Amino acid sequence: MKTRRLLAILAFILSGMLTSCEYEYVIPDVPVIDPTVPIKFSEEIAPIFSNNNNCIACHKTGATSPDLTADRAYNSIVPALINTADAEASQIYWHAHPLSTTHAWKKYKTAEAALLLEWIKQGAKNN
Ligand code: HEC
Repeated sequence: MKTRRLLAILAFILSGMLTSCEYEYVIPDVPVIDPTVPIKFSEEIAPIFSNNNNCIACHKTGATSPDLTADRAYNSIVPALINTADAEASQIYWHAHPLSTTHAWKKYKTAEAALLLEWIKQGAKNN
């Protein structure tokens, strides 16, 4: 009886530890995005490609397709690399996704991928 009670207490403590670990692990990585606030391509998406030469180190005019330089990025990815019916299947989202198994040399940060996905869900507008 005593052992059982001890085990129950141990299990309780352990489950508490597990959920708190999960909490700490998940929260900092997943940004909270309000889907009712429009995401602006020019201010929030294009900079993901060009800031710090992130993507345009390779994807610039005359180099590897798609051309992701600020003034050409929209026409390079819409509609060719976008799937508005199934946003997560969009190539611009998956190809450099943190969990992608291809394109090993460069991935989005988790927060960038989440923002891009929401922008696609909002209709991939040139705003
Ligand atoms: C070091 C160079 C380099 C960087 C930096 C780079 N890429 Fe690429 N990317 C490539 C190469 C090479 C290919 C073609 C091979 C392939 O499909 O993986 C490619 C292919 C792609 C494709 C597929 C295009 C198609 O039509 O099949 C997408 C989408 C893409 N990259 C997006 C990105 C994004 C977004 C970033 C920034 C987060 C980025 N790339 C950064 C080199 C790079």
